[in-house]
Amino acid sequence: MLQLLRRPRRVRSNEALRQIVKENSLETRQLIYPMFVSEKVDRAEAISSMPGVYQYSVNELVENAKQVFDLGIPAILLFGIPRLKDELGSQAFDPNGIIQTALRRLKQSVPELLVITDVCLCEYTSHGHCGIVDKRKGKFEVLNDRSVEVLVQTAVSQAEAGADVIAPSDMMDGRVGAIRSGLDQAGFSDLPIMSYAAKFCSAFYGPFREAAESAPQFGDRQSYQMDPANANEALREVALDIEEGADLIIVKPGLPYLDILWRVKERFGLPTAVYNISGEYAMLKAAAANGWIEEKRAVLEVMTGFRRAGADMVITYWAKDLASWLK
Ligand code: PBG
Ligand code: ZN
Repeated sequence: MLQLLRRPRRVRSNEALRQIVKENSLETRQLIYPMFVSEKVDRAEAISSMPGVYQYSVNELVENAKQVFDLGIPAILLFGIPRLKDELGSQAFDPNGIIQTALRRLKQSVPELLVITDVCLCEYTSHGHCGIVDKRKGKFEVLNDRSVEVLVQTAVSQAEAGADVIAPSDMMDGRVGAIRSGLDQAGFSDLPIMSYAAKFCSAFYGPFREAAESAPQFGDRQSYQMDPANANEALREVALDIEEGADLIIVKPGLPYLDILWRVKERFGLPTAVYNISGEYAMLKAAAANGWIEEKRAVLEVMTGFRRAGADMVITYWAKDLASWLK
């Protein structure tokens, strides 16, 4: 009996043994770095709620993307901020829009870097919603099918500009299937879709909305993002996206939804990414800045948690720090 009790301790007390029995670890090849490119900036603009994160001009984006690639990070997730916003979000699918321009430049200068493009309208609409809105009598409604048409157009224009992976984050119903057939018809049947399949309506998106200038001007996103209380619904949403053609799955946010991550990976077995979002980044950064928490150890622990919960990939604003820590 006593001998049995000593077993874990005997294993842990030997450093080499401790390493060899380690069940989970994170590698730089599993990281995806989110980046923001803005039509409105000439010199990098710091995001106050996200220390170390910037909005870049196209030139700076290309320079920084090179550094990211040189660190061994294989992929970026690209968000664009247009100069002009309108009701329809028409800059999202303009062949000379910010994302399309940035894509062509990235493909010229860092061709091997995987560029995953966000497909959504909230950065491009004057009202800041992820779809087209019908606003009458003080109430508003997001027009699902009309929005999907615009999202398909956006995805195709990104594909034409050189995107490697299309990542719709809007959460309209049926958009994965519609984007899949839009891409196929345009001759991009080999282009994968990475779907934000389980995306919850979260308080932790705040800092991102500063970075992407995408805060809704009225109302909230409860009609199209998921209720944090619902896990079975999340699994149904993921199943639908897979049926519609999603090749890779994103669970978002990360930390409050590790159970969802685990169930999605267990049930479907598709390549699964977790998005360690802006608010999760901001809160740890703030605690670290106050000396209340040790940043590196805490971040590595969070990442290990994601891996343990089933994440194949982690989308994180810490990707560059992690790449150097993991060296
Ligand atoms: C919406 C979108 C969001 C994020 C990326 N795309 C959430 C939202 O504003 O509702 C959040 C990412 C983050 O917080 O880091 N299209
Ligand atoms: Zn959006």
